[in-house]
Amino acid sequence: MTDLAERRGAETTVYQPAEDSGLLAEAALEEATGRVLEVGTGSGWVAKRVDEEAGEVDEVVASDVNPHACRQARERGVEVVRGDLLDPFRAGAFDAVLFNPPYLPTDPENEWDDWMETALSGGETGRELIEPFLDDVERVLAPEGIVLLLVSSLAGYEEIRGRAADAGFDDEVVREESFPFETLSILRLSRRSPSSSGDY
Ligand SMILES: C[S@@+](CC[C@H](N)C(=O)[O-])C[C@H]1O[C@@H](n2cnc3c(N)ncnc32)[C@H](O)[C@@H]1O
Repeated sequence: MTDLAERRGAETTVYQPAEDSGLLAEAALEEATGRVLEVGTGSGWVAKRVDEEAGEVDEVVASDVNPHACRQARERGVEVVRGDLLDPFRAGAFDAVLFNPPYLPTDPENEWDDWMETALSGGETGRELIEPFLDDVERVLAPEGIVLLLVSSLAGYEEIRGRAADAGFDDEVVREESFPFETLSILRLSRRSPSSSGDY
């Protein structure tokens, strides 16, 4: 279990850009095209970079469940919808969906009941937000759409790949960086091709 206090610093309302945000933005600048959704945008920093710098992106929409995050992202100039994961969005709407999820495995007794807990804690497994996201994200993708998902080794890399495979995706690591206590990867998910064996 990870102590949220070490990761949250003094911030109590909106997650500010960190190494994970940077990794997701770099991957998105290379991989994202067309209509892009960033789920859980926090400060809006990733969405804004993609909107301004990605060559083949037409439009960026973002979402967050935290009203303070929505306000901060909007002040940055990002188009934001407040809502839970993918619920606000219609089927087939996006060419790329980005998500840097809350992923720290957290003992319920150590959690804070505030918006930084919502930003950081992935529940006891670290996957409590990742799993419902993976189960629904295919619905909002256009036919050739992709997902860029930040995965930490703390949340169970193989378990996440397995869940993505169950949801019908092939995966590929497009960015990876190791830190003393975790390895962060960006998984690029695309609908499984008919010829793929589904091994993982
Ligand atoms: C690790 S932070 C990432 C913030 C930002 N995308 C970045 O990379 O800097 C996770 C974000 O997901 C948001 N979040 C948590 N649960 C959510 C949910 N059920 N639906 C939408 N957003 C959620 C949090 O409020 C937080 O802003």
